[in-house]
Amino acid sequence: MARNSPNFVCQTCGNVTSKWSGRCEVCGEWNSIVEEAPVSAGPAGKTLGGGRGRSAKLTDLSHPEAPPPRTSCGMDELDRVLGGGLVPGSAILVGGDPGIGKSTLLLQAAAAFADAGLKVIYASGEEASAQVRMRAQRLGLQQAPVKLANETNLRDILATLEEERPALTIIDSIQTMWADNVSSAPGSVGQVRAAAHELTTFAKARGCSVIMVGHVTKDGQLAGPRVVEHMVDTVLYFEGERGHQFRILRSVKNRFGPADEIGVFEMTGAGLHEVTNPSALFLSERGAPAPGSVVFSGIEGTRPVLVEFQALVAPTPQAQPRRTVVGWDGGRLAMILAVLEARCGIPFAGLDVYLNVAGGMKVSEPAADLAVAAALLSAREDVALPPETVVFGEISLSGALRPVGQTENRLKEAQKLGFTTAILPRGGTAKGAGMSLTEMPDLATVVGEVFGAG
Ligand code: TYD
Ligand code: MG
Repeated sequence: MARNSPNFVCQTCGNVTSKWSGRCEVCGEWNSIVEEAPVSAGPAGKTLGGGRGRSAKLTDLSHPEAPPPRTSCGMDELDRVLGGGLVPGSAILVGGDPGIGKSTLLLQAAAAFADAGLKVIYASGEEASAQVRMRAQRLGLQQAPVKLANETNLRDILATLEEERPALTIIDSIQTMWADNVSSAPGSVGQVRAAAHELTTFAKARGCSVIMVGHVTKDGQLAGPRVVEHMVDTVLYFEGERGHQFRILRSVKNRFGPADEIGVFEMTGAGLHEVTNPSALFLSERGAPAPGSVVFSGIEGTRPVLVEFQALVAPTPQAQPRRTVVGWDGGRLAMILAVLEARCGIPFAGLDVYLNVAGGMKVSEPAADLAVAAALLSAREDVALPPETVVFGEISLSGALRPVGQTENRLKEAQKLGFTTAILPRGGTAKGAGMSLTEMPDLATVVGEVFGAG
């Protein structure tokens, strides 16, 4: 593309084209393409000099340049999601719905990192400094040595950072920042991308970590282009149901640690509290054994977490029965219903199916297949599983059960919480860990032996 030809940027996916069109050819969104001024690539024909762009041997980059160690903030749930503390010079994006508690989390994190000895600046474009102070007071953090900046102009923020050289900067939020060399409005893809790029570059160049807050759109994507997710080192999502007090911080990308790690918090009147034993929390609302309720022993990141699946199956007057899922994948539910019907002779036609993960947790592991199938069968046959039972295993389209990873950890966690029996696929290598194991070859056997159906 010629350097000064205009750019047409899709505001949904960030795709850049040289021609306007009514529909983005990459993401298919209508009326999302907007003209943006091209970003200057610096003086033509000149390099920036000073040996930039030169290569070096990998072995030359060893000890003298080894980065300073990670800093833990003392909030274990946050440290673990970051991969064991904050890496100097890293760029982190925290996404979440409005009002879910991002500003609260990051103000608490700012105070914790400041207490751990880092120089921290909290730059808010959303709230005035007085509002941030009020929140700090509510959180009991008014004495924390955090500096506040109330600024949305990127150039001014970078000037402040250059002068103050903090070890950690929090930008709340990236959508309120604007660069004066980009002509589009604040919050547009062009602005978000430019601001994220400048801040990420600054973080790398100066060894100052930057945490950026990003809003998500109604379908759960970070507003602004995907390219921001590619730019940063770590992408975290702060999730939770508005009506529940539980909040989950989940890493979906992390260059410095395992992805899919979660930290669990509880929103209280005085801010977020860490939940050190999430299994106990997610099972706390479980009543007497009921049909449709099954406890799944899952793995989230590096640790096992027990959650309860609840299913309800009811006859429907409608020609098209309902399939409603909260906290799990709808496509995967359809697959399990199909396997139950085709391989085990358990039809769900004419029945509404509701599936819910208790406590506002989201599960994405295929290892939950068997727990889902058991919940559906338990609800349909009106048979409750014995109360001290956990279930896990993957189901293949043939109806066979496949062993899943970290079986031993799953069993240990279940035993720790007082469970005595596990229903799981045959063929795993796990030893009992003190639990009684019901190992099953396929779903049809589960249907017959556990539920007496089929
Ligand atoms: P906030 O951090 O402002 O959310 P976000 O930055 O993601 O938009 O949190 C807003 C909600 O959290 C608000 O509804 C009030 C609630 N809250 C508490 O319950 N306890 C608290 O101590 C604080 C500070 C907020
Ligand atoms: Mg906020």
